[in-house]
Amino acid sequence: MNVLGIESSCDETAAAVVSDGRHIRSSIIWSQVEVHAPYGGVVPEIASRSHLQAIVPVVRQALAQADMTLDDLDGLAVTIGPGLVGALLVGVQFAKALALGTGLPIVGVNHIEAHFMAAFLDESREPPRFPFVALAVSGGHSSLFRVDGFGRFSLLGRTLDDAAGEAFDKAAAVLGLPYPGGVAIDRVAEGRNPDTIRFPRSMIKEAGFDMSFSGLKSALRRHVELLGHPPSDDEVADIAAAFREAVVDVLVARTMAAAGASNVRDVVIAGGVAANRRLRARMGDAAARAGISLHAVPLALCADNAAMVAGLGHQYLFGSLADADCPRGLSMDPFIRMTATGG
Ligand code: KG4
Ligand code: ZN
Repeated sequence: MNVLGIESSCDETAAAVVSDGRHIRSSIIWSQVEVHAPYGGVVPEIASRSHLQAIVPVVRQALAQADMTLDDLDGLAVTIGPGLVGALLVGVQFAKALALGTGLPIVGVNHIEAHFMAAFLDESREPPRFPFVALAVSGGHSSLFRVDGFGRFSLLGRTLDDAAGEAFDKAAAVLGLPYPGGVAIDRVAEGRNPDTIRFPRSMIKEAGFDMSFSGLKSALRRHVELLGHPPSDDEVADIAAAFREAVVDVLVARTMAAAGASNVRDVVIAGGVAANRRLRARMGDAAARAGISLHAVPLALCADNAAMVAGLGHQYLFGSLADADCPRGLSMDPFIRMTATGG
């Protein structure tokens, strides 16, 4: 069964073909990073317009890379939220038009569920065992879920203010590092001593599994102001390393606490920030100490992509959820689940 996935929720226009829910036949990602870089963040209206320009060539490329035509497809899956409304509409309307033209079945999937269910892609990797705890952490969300099956997940905790990726992006802007900031901070922090500055770890000792990153971002800004001069390259690297460590401490502590309380054997980390080298290393150490298997989504599948959409779409169309009640068909509404689980 070949499913074409389409993703347009934020600033990546992506299309991919996945066979039988796990085998990635193609994955094309058209990133708008350069278009938004001058603004230091994603401009929604520009994102929508860029998706409109990219969607047809991106889908064509995904079919070509898979060496397939529309005739080889068995179904379509598209992200219906959470995300930027105008951006989502481009992918949803395109996918619906394709379904109308081809007669293929179509299903709408939740972007965040797609992020953590990317742990099932790539048949060479051992998939996580249900139930597991998933940390979905990116520019738009930082949330912890207990996952009991495809389509069956519940929110355990989430950020009460900034998402972790958003905090990285804002911190990088203060330090004069390029957008997207998470990548830049990760790069300059690598190999530096993270303990030359001590930034706060908000809520780390409080009950529950919620998180907060805005106090940390303000502490960094204050630190730079108190320096009284633009930080040197050396100072930027020390600040970046200390900041990264504080974010990672919070994410690791909250995730391991949630895993312990849920008594699970497996933990999944997914989303753009899950590409962070320090997070992957520290979460791996903490999981090993607790006797838990860590499933860090492969780097190529951390940031927004459509393989994760096609893989999850397979479950809804042909797998364990084929009979589930979820948005499918030409009347599906991109607003239905947009706020259901976002962080
Ligand atoms: O999943 P994603 O591509 O888009 C959203 O759904 O938000 O995540 C983008 C976010 C950005 O905030 C970016 O700074 C962050 O992921 N990011 C990282 C790294 N790579 C990307 N943050 C920390 N370390 C990284 N290596
Ligand atoms: Zn995302």
